[in-house]
Amino acid sequence: MVTVALSDADYERFRTLILTRTGLDFPPVRRGDLESGLRRSLAQVQDAFRYHREAAASLPALSGLDDLYQALVADLPAVWDIVVDALTVCETHFFRHAQQFEGLRDHVLQPLIAERRRRGDLSLRLWSAGCASGEEAYSLAILLQEMLSDWANWRLDILGTDLNQHSLDRAQQAVYRDWSFREAFAQQRRQQYFHQQDAQFILRENVRGMVRFRICNLVEDCTPLFPDGRKLDVIFCRNVILYFGTNVRRWVYQRLYEALAPGGYLIVGHADPPPPNFTPLEARSFSSVTFFQRPLTAPRRTSPRRPDLEKARGASPAPEAEAADPAVSPASDSSEPAVVTMQGDTSAAAAATAAEAQYRLGRWHADRQHWDQALRHCLAATRLAPTHLLAHYTLALIYQSLGQSEAAIEALRSTIYLARNWALPHFTAAGIHRSLGQHDHARRELRNVILLTNRMTPDAAIDGGDGLTAARLHSAAERQLQDMIGQDESGRPG
Ligand SMILES: C[S@@+](CC[C@H](N)C(=O)[O-])C[C@H]1O[C@@H](n2cnc3c(N)ncnc32)[C@H](O)[C@@H]1O
Repeated sequence: MVTVALSDADYERFRTLILTRTGLDFPPVRRGDLESGLRRSLAQVQDAFRYHREAAASLPALSGLDDLYQALVADLPAVWDIVVDALTVCETHFFRHAQQFEGLRDHVLQPLIAERRRRGDLSLRLWSAGCASGEEAYSLAILLQEMLSDWANWRLDILGTDLNQHSLDRAQQAVYRDWSFREAFAQQRRQQYFHQQDAQFILRENVRGMVRFRICNLVEDCTPLFPDGRKLDVIFCRNVILYFGTNVRRWVYQRLYEALAPGGYLIVGHADPPPPNFTPLEARSFSSVTFFQRPLTAPRRTSPRRPDLEKARGASPAPEAEAADPAVSPASDSSEPAVVTMQGDTSAAAAATAAEAQYRLGRWHADRQHWDQALRHCLAATRLAPTHLLAHYTLALIYQSLGQSEAAIEALRSTIYLARNWALPHFTAAGIHRSLGQHDHARRELRNVILLTNRMTPDAAIDGGDGLTAARLHSAAERQLQDMIGQDESGRPG
């Protein structure tokens, strides 16, 4: 086994190189992820070089980290593929966040299809950007087949793209396991659209053939172009942007905005920071989901230059229009806190103050179970300050109260991503997984709580825990873990 300990200098140079090339940022809280990803990559290249003649042809002999770094600087594609595979989070499943697919169907596609029929233009263009192993793009294809009885007469361009070649290979194969169907919406459709072969589910050819896949690094300009020059009606870019450095996010959002046709929609994940205000995308809420629409007649703006990605990771976003968002005076208990507007103050500090104010408003409403307002204010807080931990955590609690478990888990993921050592979100995640019957996940989270609280002094207060101590949280986690011994995924005794 290769041992890789990243010195501070190595950490800095790999972090910068990877950010520049892929947009993926590994701030100090994720240094361990970078280290273990590089360790796996190095071992994989060395094994392939030693034992697989075919692979060895495209790989260099690497004796350690320095060689790995040089191979990346030299842009060796086979080495980059391995490193990207080790560093990207490829978690996905069919109809992930089913409410978004229902919202898309009922509020975006139905009117759009009716309008296209009226005009005699039977065509639609959809893009799953950061599609991982393809479930998202194929979910769109299934949705369209269900909506269009005459789908074969339409020109349907559904494109799935990703940076990770290994994921794209899996997407092309279109062979999945049970785990890809954990959403009820997906399970209901499995029999109709897949053949089962032992434990595998193979997508039927008439759906598979509707989607094209290709490699695309969102950090480079890879906007899909169609031969007729038309732009996209719908872009899904979910659970991708949250892993990018701040300036990269701004750059990618601008590209996505430009790729949309006027009136087209961008759909991001619950944990992704929403588009910054400099893009004229307008938030549109439909029951429980919010999408971002390119206005039909947008003012022409000059596109921001590609950020200097070398310097990208430290910079915080210029608040621009965000500075006009409201701040609040201290909350009184009987009525909503008064809102004061900050005008003309465009400093990052003003954005932070406004975010704090939005968060407090969100908390105030959450304490009173005004879920809609609480959600709105906490989302605004995370938009203004994407690293506002308590706002992400409160969002998770709000989604949990609304019964939106997937969204709650995503918000907890953002929280954990920002503060690896904070035990409380792991404990909350365990509860949600348990209620969903995901006992393995729940157990893993409880073990995280035990690990993290072990590192604290017993009477240390848990942040955000209203006086809860490390010792109490520790024993609560141990008790729950004990309760779960012998339970299988369905919650039955094993
Ligand atoms: C967590 S998956 C999201 C999959 C799917 N969109 C979903 O929400 O279920 C994130 C994907 O983003 C891809 N990704 C990361 N950086 C990227 C980049 N610079 N360009 C394109 N894709 C990228 C990763 O390879 C990974 O497959």
